[in-house]
Amino acid sequence: MANQRTLSIIKPDAVAKNVIGEIESRFEKAGLKIVAAKMLQLSEEKAGGFYAEHKERPFFKDLVGFMTSGPVVVQVLEGEDAVAKNRDLMGATNPKEAAPGTIRADFAETIDANAVHGSDSPESAEREIAYFFEADEICPRG
Ligand code: TYD
Ligand code: MG
Repeated sequence: MANQRTLSIIKPDAVAKNVIGEIESRFEKAGLKIVAAKMLQLSEEKAGGFYAEHKERPFFKDLVGFMTSGPVVVQVLEGEDAVAKNRDLMGATNPKEAAPGTIRADFAETIDANAVHGSDSPESAEREIAYFFEADEICPRG
């Protein structure tokens, strides 16, 4: 699998727990490189647009409330098979079902505040990266 990019978000619960570095370290140890990153306070509009696919779901309002409850770190990870590798490192959506040693198992307790986001396919990754980053904000590192 060729070099790939994925969008990663360190969510407000993990930022509040002060584990940004610990989470980044997992990506780096797995061979993923951070090629773009910024800390943002999301507006309701920006968070709602990001999760538009879930607009009709019962948890949507709470999800937007949570994602705007404090700063997030939005970033692009690059590496071999980056989309699937990031999802493996993250663990299951519900931290109670996440495999031991995954980010969500180690840093989250509930499904609605689950520490990280990761794109679920190369197509989503492309869309989600463009949602947050201009092309010149991404720095390929070879
Ligand atoms: P989803 O895309 O299904 O999960 P993932 O983040 O693993 O790709 O859902 C997006 C987010 O919505 C999820 O990270 C947390 C929230 N969510 C809930 O709060 N309750 C739920 O039942 C589900 C499925 C998701
Ligand atoms: Mg998802």
